[in-house]
Amino acid sequence: MVVRPIQPEDAAPIAASFHLLNEDEVRRRFLHILKSLGEEHLRQLTHPSAASEFVVVAAEPLPPGEALVAAVARLARDTNDPARAEFGILVSHFVIGLGLGRLLMLRLIEWCRENAVTELWGDVMDDNTPMLELASHLGFQRTSTHGSPGLVRITLQLAPTRH
Ligand SMILES: CC(C)(COP(=O)(O)OP(=O)(O)OC[C@H]1O[C@@H](n2cnc3c(N)ncnc32)[C@H](O)[C@@H]1OP(=O)(O)O)[C@@H](O)C(=O)NCCC(=O)NCCS
Repeated sequence: MVVRPIQPEDAAPIAASFHLLNEDEVRRRFLHILKSLGEEHLRQLTHPSAASEFVVVAAEPLPPGEALVAAVARLARDTNDPARAEFGILVSHFVIGLGLGRLLMLRLIEWCRENAVTELWGDVMDDNTPMLELASHLGFQRTSTHGSPGLVRITLQLAPTRH
């Protein structure tokens, strides 16, 4: 497995393997049920805007397009506050518990530090123990979700890297 930024060619393998994910992991990632990834969603995911988005994958060590993609982590700056960014992550159940979630979250955090993002946040289902445990080990704190039942907002405050 290699960890690298997503490439446009990853769209086809990601679309093709989406049906291998189970309903629960998809719901935990997107906070609702999703049967497939639409074309526009895939295009956005695989063509991140360099200034405001970052997407990293764990994939087979094969050329993008041929490689199976086992995990995807994405962040996007908030439109009204570019110093804040929301994350989302999905590690396929075939490879959970191997440290990939931690590794990908650390890559997102590194990008934040290098790109003046001082707050990384995400909304997580309150029964999502794996994500809440992982986040707590990384230093995330629980904050308010503005009244969304069943959801916990987790936030990591970061100091930017000085060059
Ligand atoms: C949450 C998720 C990203 C974890 O990925 P992962 O690759 O299994 O995580 P890691 O192997 O890096 O585990 C890191 C830490 O997470 C915690 N963790 C992982 N799985 C856990 C579980 N089943 N129960 C409790 N803690 C767990 C542990 O603290 C673990 O550290 P440790 O093993 O050293 O104690 C993965 O389960 C997933 O994609 N779930 C579905 C989508 C989702 O929930 N996304 C989050 C909201 S966007």
